[in-house]
Amino acid sequence: MKVVSVINLKGGVAKTMTSVNLAHVLASFHGKRVLIIDNDKQGNTSKFFGVHGYKKKSIANLLIDEEPDVCQVIQSTSYDNLDIIPANMKLLKANLQVILDPSRQQQTILQKLLPQIESNYDYCVIDNAPDINISIINALVISDHVIIPVKIDQFAFDGLVELSEQIGNVKKAFNPKTEIVGCLITQFQKNDVNITGTEWLEKKSNLPVFKTKIRKTEKVDESTFVNQPINIYSKRCGAAKDYKAFVEEYLIMVN
Ligand SMILES: Nc1ncnc2c1ncn2[C@@H]1O[C@H](COP(=O)(O)OP(=O)(O)O)[C@@H](O)[C@H]1O
Ligand SMILES: [Mg+2]
Repeated sequence: MKVVSVINLKGGVAKTMTSVNLAHVLASFHGKRVLIIDNDKQGNTSKFFGVHGYKKKSIANLLIDEEPDVCQVIQSTSYDNLDIIPANMKLLKANLQVILDPSRQQQTILQKLLPQIESNYDYCVIDNAPDINISIINALVISDHVIIPVKIDQFAFDGLVELSEQIGNVKKAFNPKTEIVGCLITQFQKNDVNITGTEWLEKKSNLPVFKTKIRKTEKVDESTFVNQPINIYSKRCGAAKDYKAFVEEYLIMVN
């Protein structure tokens, strides 16, 4: 199983859209067995797949329960080959609880659980919160790949240096195999700001950048109201084609 974290310290850059559509394209068009982990207390990915709630277990249980059974936290989605570990506001308290518990190593809780599910999936996609907290460090510790969605605007590059540093720290201390596969430009429009920003990212940021850009497409906003991956909601729109092309580029880069 390969684990891929979708992460950026900023909100609204399409982390959730990228996670959901990456997972869906891998499962539906490439026949991969995919687990998506919602690692954001906002629970947007969980809402998208209709599994947000407080009755069933969530990612918080994996962080704080003693010897959790990961399979009990996994739910199926209405898509073939695509399962989910949901999140809700309990993740906030779970993070605090982990930090305040000196009896175990905080950063490697998920890593210790990975063997339970490793053989059941080909890919695990983690949708992270716009933050660096202990649940995100736990995600990075198990990640083979990191994808950084970037929306080009005035503040687009804020936090990229800090994020790279944190990923570098995790790499050194816990997980030498993790690598930033690339920045993925999302909500791309052909205007001066986007073109200049893309050039800066490609030439000056020292970060790899995917050739594929995800075009800004109204259909994506609409797709969130009906909770359908973009290739189900409107397979001919620009963003649907771009997400398929992005996944192909990703698979070529990492295989
Ligand atoms: N390619 C796109 N075209 C148009 N709107 C988009 C696109 N990608 C994302 N959005 C919109 O941007 C907003 C933020 O996306 P989201 O994935 O929730 O970001 P994040 O998880 O980084 O906070 C959502 O309203 C979403 O519909
Ligand atoms: Mg999100």
